Amino acid sequence: MRECDRRDFLKGALSAAALAAVSHGAWAQGDDEVRHAVIGIGNQGRNHCGLFSAVGGCRVVAVADVDPERREAGRDIASEHGPAEAYEDFRAILDDDSVHSVSVATCDHWHTPVALAALAAGKHVYVEKPCSHNLHEGHVLAQAAADTGLCVQHGTQSRSGEGIQEAMVFLAEGGLGTLRAAKAIDHQLRAPIGRAEPEDPPPGVDYDLWLGPAPKVPFTRNRWHYNWHWFWDYGTGDIGNDGIHQLDVARWGLGAGLPLRTTATGGQLFYDDDHQTPDTQVVTYDYGDRYLIYEMRLWTPYPLEGHHNGVAFYGDDGRLDVGGDGCVVTYAGGDTERLGGGADTQANVGNFVECARAGDPAGLNAPISEGVVSAALAHLGNIGTRVGRPLEYDAETRSFPGDEEATALASRDYREGYELPQV
Ligand SMILES: NC(=O)c1ccc[n+]([C@@H]2O[C@H](COP(=O)([O-])OP(=O)(O)OC[C@H]3O[C@@H](n4cnc5c(N)ncnc54)[C@H](O)[C@@H]3O)[C@@H](O)[C@H]2O)c1
Repeated sequence: MRECDRRDFLKGALSAAALAAVSHGAWAQGDDEVRHAVIGIGNQGRNHCGLFSAVGGCRVVAVADVDPERREAGRDIASEHGPAEAYEDFRAILDDDSVHSVSVATCDHWHTPVALAALAAGKHVYVEKPCSHNLHEGHVLAQAAADTGLCVQHGTQSRSGEGIQEAMVFLAEGGLGTLRAAKAIDHQLRAPIGRAEPEDPPPGVDYDLWLGPAPKVPFTRNRWHYNWHWFWDYGTGDIGNDGIHQLDVARWGLGAGLPLRTTATGGQLFYDDDHQTPDTQVVTYDYGDRYLIYEMRLWTPYPLEGHHNGVAFYGDDGRLDVGGDGCVVTYAGGDTERLGGGADTQANVGNFVECARAGDPAGLNAPISEGVVSAALAHLGNIGTRVGRPLEYDAETRSFPGDEEATALASRDYREGYELPQV
């Protein structure tokens, strides 16, 4: 499609907010190369630098991280394919009209704020899971994506796995008869983190920017790279880390959205250290005629029920396992059938670039409209575990009617200067 045709088409389809975003950003400037930037250069950000560089017609032209060592590592990977800039402050990337799209691979508490700022700047966004740090952010992000008409892909890459796609069709076509339950299993051994004393942040690190919306507290090594997952101010525990992949597949296969009711329990049976999030958690999502059960044990050094991480679907005519061995059906009579392989991150990235180039969010395999619901299941599990009673979430009022304590956990207090950006 010629550039002016595409702009005319967009004008017909988009809201005022979308038009503001398009005219501000440069994603529709008509050059063939998709110029991508990666924000947050930990393990996953470095993966993104490689994955986006491997997509034909896409180049990583900029990276950002508050940690100088990490942003230089990202620039080194990107520079193998052409010139790349490294920034401390991601907002410099958003101000650059020649950047079309960004990845958000920061800690969880920055996902929605960066994604919203990028949408406001007219960039397409690939946001890592979980796309939100709380329920409120999910609503705001989904709305912003819809309003701008930009592509927002979620880092739940099972959605781009061909074998899993086939397995979901198999379920939808009644391959297991009536489907009554799915179990999302997160069993693995995660080492304790010990206890860390406050100290100065590493030299050159902008720790205030790393904290962002979270309260200002002294730096410790445990609240820092990767281990932030286990602190409520920044992370979402393992249910929002590995568990969300299983929840996403389970929900997809069940054809389920937000549950009627959530019952959660959990705690620390194994860790005796700085961890705030549970090492053991069981959550039941009640859909009336179907149940989704999440089971997490982080102190399990062996597979249970054939899985470390995976999903088992239970129907009247058999069981489908989606796990490390791919997708395998066991029929009621004992016969088995292999349906295909697992998640595909490269395909998820490639699908995003293709949609960004076409300006077509409808083609996304893991659209944010689905991502926010899977993230919401993780948040519901955590809120239920923290308050210790069953929950009924009302998405209309974004609250748990009659439960003030749970409703307070549906959002957070944003530190002054780090409120959610308006799109
Ligand atoms: N889709 C997947 O399978 C998958 C796999 C691994 C990680 N992830 C997700 O990727 C994210 C990153 O995980 P990780 O293991 O790389 O964590 P990490 O802590 O190693 O990396 C996060 C990086 O973000 C940087 N950062 C934080 N705030 C920033 C800001 N305001 N601006 C710029 N940089 C900032 C940190 O300095 C750090 O280098 C997590 O949300 C995680 O859930 C997804």
